[in-house]
Amino acid sequence: MRPRLSRPRHGCFGREPDELAEAEQLAASDDRALAGYRAGRTCHPLLPFADWAGCAPALGRLGSVIVAGCRDAVAARAGCNPRLVREWLDSQAAGGLLVYDADADTYRLGAEEAMAFADDGTPIFVARAMNAIGSMFMDIDKVTAAYRGDGKLPWGEHHPCLFKGTEWFFRTGYRAYLPAVWIPALEGVQEKLERGARVADVGCGHGASVVVMADAYPNSRLTGFDYHEPSIRTARERAAEAGVADRTSFEVATAKDYPGTYDLICFFDCLHDMGDPVGIARHALERLDPDGTVLLVEPFAIDGRATNLAGNPMAALLYTASSVVCTPNSLSQEVGLGLGAQAGEARLGEVFREAGFTRFRRAAETPLNLILEARP
Ligand SMILES: C[S@@+](CC[C@H](N)C(=O)[O-])C[C@H]1O[C@@H](n2cnc3c(N)ncnc32)[C@H](O)[C@@H]1O
Repeated sequence: MRPRLSRPRHGCFGREPDELAEAEQLAASDDRALAGYRAGRTCHPLLPFADWAGCAPALGRLGSVIVAGCRDAVAARAGCNPRLVREWLDSQAAGGLLVYDADADTYRLGAEEAMAFADDGTPIFVARAMNAIGSMFMDIDKVTAAYRGDGKLPWGEHHPCLFKGTEWFFRTGYRAYLPAVWIPALEGVQEKLERGARVADVGCGHGASVVVMADAYPNSRLTGFDYHEPSIRTARERAAEAGVADRTSFEVATAKDYPGTYDLICFFDCLHDMGDPVGIARHALERLDPDGTVLLVEPFAIDGRATNLAGNPMAALLYTASSVVCTPNSLSQEVGLGLGAQAGEARLGEVFREAGFTRFRRAAETPLNLILEARP
């Protein structure tokens, strides 16, 4: 189900949400690019750190980003060895991300690849998000120990690349869809936020979603909670940089002990990371106004393991993150349910009903996210 797309009032980099949604659908069904990733064809240890924007003098022109002279320009700027950079460009061309023009001796990004690697304004921009993938390799000893032991690996013990990579992975979607599509898809929430509402963003990480909502709804007051202290410090910096520090605050708290009463409580791509989702939903119910709403954003999944494996193009990536980061973190906490990043709508609905919520529905979706609404 896809909601009717309304015009964005804020953010979105001047793009129409339906244009972004179409671009995202196109990329999600692009066998060449995404199947290539899944098959590991385009894997390169430097990929997480590559600054493709530095290779692209014509960022605005989707589909025609020319990487002319890239090897020399990038090598010079980065102080890199030109011979190695040339080899890296060939690895990307062999993987299908770049097209090599032998006559001109240049490398060119294709349309979908440009959106993914060189255009920060699209919902599928993943270039810097690859830092999260990089962290998985850097944490390999800790991950191995978890697999051979009790399965536990707390979020805060990962390499800091994970925290930045996660922020950048999800932020593009929040910017593109949160005020423009997801909030309007909830019952009566947009009006409350415009008038001025109390909002809690639980498991806020670096605060990407808080900043987007604070920018869109200046009359509302938003508090981000996270149990990871370094992330809370970064979130405060992000809010100050974005000019929304006056209406936001960020506090260190677990999802079961934050204070206050709220009209809207949000969980953005984090509930499945937590050990006790039922207890956490129960705490949210206690903290929620009787007419309030929980906005639960979770990684996209289709109900039923076999159906999801066969039909969800994002499943390989999301199960990978879940098996290395999300599930080990959940196992490290109280209860240790290990919901997993591919729990799906039906299982998430069970969690909220068990916690005492009476209404639960899918409000919207993207190829990357399920947008779910729970009400008392
Ligand atoms: C995948 S990240 C998502 C961060 C952020 N919501 C976003 O979308 O960018 C999961 C976040 O949940 C936080 N977290 C995990 N368990 C938690 C708990 N029990 N209480 C509070 N925060 C928790 C982690 O510290 C991390 O910042």
